[in-house]
Amino acid sequence: MSELADIGVIGLAVMGENLILNMESKGFRVACYNRTVDKVDAFVNGRGAGKNLVGCRTLDQLAANLAKPRKVMLMVRAGDAVDVLIEMLVPLLDPGDIIIDGGNSAYMDTTRRCRELATKGLLHVGAGVSGGEEGALHGPSIMPGGNGAAWPALQPIFQAIAAKVEDGTPCCDWIGPEGSGHFVKTVHNGIEYGDMQIICEAYHLMSQGLGMSAAQMQPIFARWNKGFLDSYLIQITADILSQVDPDSGKPVVDVILDAAGQKGTGKWTSQVGLDLGVAIPQIAEAVFARSLSAAKDERTDAHRKLTGPDPKYTGDSEMLVKQLEQAVYAAKICSYAQGFQLLRAASQEFAWNLNYGGIAQIWREGCIIRARFLGDIKKAYDADASLANLLLAPVFQEVLANAQSAWRNVLKTAMDLGIPMPVMASSLSYYDGYRCARLPANLLQAQRDYFGAHMYERTDRPRGEFFHTNWTGMG
Ligand code: ATR
Repeated sequence: MSELADIGVIGLAVMGENLILNMESKGFRVACYNRTVDKVDAFVNGRGAGKNLVGCRTLDQLAANLAKPRKVMLMVRAGDAVDVLIEMLVPLLDPGDIIIDGGNSAYMDTTRRCRELATKGLLHVGAGVSGGEEGALHGPSIMPGGNGAAWPALQPIFQAIAAKVEDGTPCCDWIGPEGSGHFVKTVHNGIEYGDMQIICEAYHLMSQGLGMSAAQMQPIFARWNKGFLDSYLIQITADILSQVDPDSGKPVVDVILDAAGQKGTGKWTSQVGLDLGVAIPQIAEAVFARSLSAAKDERTDAHRKLTGPDPKYTGDSEMLVKQLEQAVYAAKICSYAQGFQLLRAASQEFAWNLNYGGIAQIWREGCIIRARFLGDIKKAYDADASLANLLLAPVFQEVLANAQSAWRNVLKTAMDLGIPMPVMASSLSYYDGYRCARLPANLLQAQRDYFGAHMYERTDRPRGEFFHTNWTGMG
């Protein structure tokens, strides 16, 4: 029999194929399987021709071709497919073997699978993989969590294929138990929704408010990408704005219909925020912004019926663009602060002991939200791992203090022009809410007590003592 493979991958869609080619390029022998078996032949004789791969036509063949402990990575559609495959794999594996789920599974599913497989002596790992097709091929950011006993066997493979930061540190490290890896990936995707929408809002202000063309905006994003906003999403935005549609001769971005799609990971993040009672309004607003955009026909109709101000800005455009850069950065910092608050809440709720600086490092390269400022986040948590909120890190306190008037002015301007900025406006409300020592929740508590006798605490009595007022005198 031929040499055993280091790892098996199931699922030959583009992410699976690219991950296999990445593993193979790093010296690993990879066994491949796909439910539609023709794809196995097509792959090993096509993109995988001449490479150190073993094409398997059955799961038995896959299991027989793997070195022990067997490592089987699923790169299939999240949901039932993962459970179906796990059920088929269990009888073919031995105690100590590892099943890795590299898809976008819901973290609660991963927790459940970890527990179920542990009862059979099998190790389960839920690994978030980010970076899209290119990342999978050349170096993704990987967030593995689950049964920690699996990590020593996986570490050499995962860290070899992962993206690296400048000093060579891989953008992959053990996240924690149960569904923590998939949870961190979910938060990553929520932050990604926020980042994308912030950029779109800046684009909206420049295009609609300042009347700038794609060609005029392109150098601005390119310049931003050399400063504190240096990030993959700003970089691709500059690239997108430079592309011309061969059919119409117009910028491609101008011929794309303004109705956003979504696969649901931003929604999940928002739902988790609601479940854990953590304020992540920017992520939720980013999801809702996509939902509103999708109602294209309704909006077109409403445009004719609902009035608003003239969106043309008449002030100093150059100054506003400078302020916009700062406002985008401030909004981004608040958005990441919310994402890390969600990680913190989950870490406490599930006793995961997450390493926030380590997570920032994993996101530093390879993934869609990779950005220079994740290095600052890492430093902030390295300096104080118990930070109550990223906004309180001295470096970000200072940035936000300096951005303050620009940030407020951009939002005032957008509101005057009637240009929607749901995520950026929400960032300032979050900032102002978080730094507010006395919110109007006193009145809210009074209302709750009035109609529902829900009781309230008093400012002049210890926390935990509850009081009720007989508001109507009716007892
Ligand atoms: P994409 O990621 O491009 O949207 P997909 O339809 O989600 O594609 O499928 C991704 C992978 O999951 C494919 O390898 C698919 O196998 P097939 O090529 O046989 O469709 C795999 N997959 C989806 N459902 C599956 C299931 N129930 N059992 C096994 N593999 C499954």
